[in-house]
Amino acid sequence: GRVAVLYGGTSAEREISLKSGKAISRALDAAGVDIVEIDLGAKPISQLIDQNIDRAFIALHGPGGEDGKIQAALELLGIPYTGSNVQASALAMDKLKSKYLWLALGLPTPNFEVLTATTDWDSCLNKLGGKAMVKPAHEGSSIGMSKVDCADDLRIAYENACQFDPSIIAEELIEGAEYTVTVLANRCLSPIKVVVNNTFYDYQAKYFSDETQYLIPCGLDEEKLSELCELALKAFESVGCSGWGRVDFMADQQGNFYLLEVNTVPGMTDHSLVPMAANSVGLSFQDLCVEIISQTLV
Ligand code: DAL
Ligand code: MG
Repeated sequence: GRVAVLYGGTSAEREISLKSGKAISRALDAAGVDIVEIDLGAKPISQLIDQNIDRAFIALHGPGGEDGKIQAALELLGIPYTGSNVQASALAMDKLKSKYLWLALGLPTPNFEVLTATTDWDSCLNKLGGKAMVKPAHEGSSIGMSKVDCADDLRIAYENACQFDPSIIAEELIEGAEYTVTVLANRCLSPIKVVVNNTFYDYQAKYFSDETQYLIPCGLDEEKLSELCELALKAFESVGCSGWGRVDFMADQQGNFYLLEVNTVPGMTDHSLVPMAANSVGLSFQDLCVEIISQTLV
């Protein structure tokens, strides 16, 4: 059947989605799949109606594409799509609600405070131990994020993040290693340790830097490795995700893991983590795209 690759869109991650979508289209095309590329930033969703589409590969990142909206539209149109359903997508896109869920289930996630215009910046930062990551609750690719270590910067970081989202959190800074685990069809692929030269794994370090290091194998012993994978699967399942995704973690100096978020449409660019993880288990980019399509919800 015919597969529509949906990409672009209008979120702050549009540029990344264009790269992910192009790469996926090329790979599916090379695999002999009949594809039609649809840039949802350029064309309205009504374009999907008369295209004879059998399935959709959602390659949209961020609000509007990763948050359940496009998933809902596709369900109403009766078009099966890749990845998580409406509810899981909406929940995963919301870092704050995801954290509430994980806390309720006893899964580890960094301590946090919700920031508002009336936050007492001094006492807020004190509660978080003096250092924090400020994040818009519904963004990706580190957009709108800042690392802070003083109350003034916390306020400035909040004001900056507000440009992207009305819901802002400050997370206790976990100083240690960053790990990410790809989930494909309910199993974990090799975890990756991300080592940055930057202050954190920000937009620059994610997509442009040639100095960011990606370690596979990630250097954990068997026991820690299975702990990390179990945690990734629990996080993925608790949010209700399916098909594919990527779970991001920090580890502190003692080696304790903390859940940061689940990405339901992870980046698929040439600098992205999921293709690297797939590659390490012998799955080419093309195999990966075909496998994701074959997991399409019906
Ligand atoms: N939000 C980006 C695309 C990622 O998680 O890979
Ligand atoms: Mg993300």
